[in-house]
Amino acid sequence: MDKKGFEPKILAFCCNWCAYAGADLAGVSRMQYPPNIRIIRVMCSGRVEPELVVKALSLGTDGVLVLGCHIGDCHYISGNHRTVKRMAILERILGYLGIDPARVKLEWVSAAEGARFAQVVSDFTSKIKELGPIPLQELRP
Ligand code: FES
Repeated sequence: MDKKGFEPKILAFCCNWCAYAGADLAGVSRMQYPPNIRIIRVMCSGRVEPELVVKALSLGTDGVLVLGCHIGDCHYISGNHRTVKRMAILERILGYLGIDPARVKLEWVSAAEGARFAQVVSDFTSKIKELGPIPLQELRP
């Protein structure tokens, strides 16, 4: 498929308490955002292990968003501090695997930020369209 008509598959891990509620608000407010994302609800963004993201990419996901509560608002106090550390590790792993780290993005979205959720999804989808399909050959042994 050429890059022009490319419609990426994007996975968004959303924490239950903020980002998922923000996505819900975007939905009930009928905000427009690209239909390329599929949401997986997790209890906290800190639960998203780097291995999980690498696995999603290796199965053909073109980009992964990790969306959690703003720093200071995590329902589990320090879960999103763990997320920040994990994303730094993930960035290094992706570099080692030859995958552009821009294919994975961490953002904070509160339950009241439906518009922000829609904007983050739109911006990230545009970025992944620019990057093109995931080079799966880089992820195969
Ligand atoms: Fe939302 Fe921890 S509960 S990031």
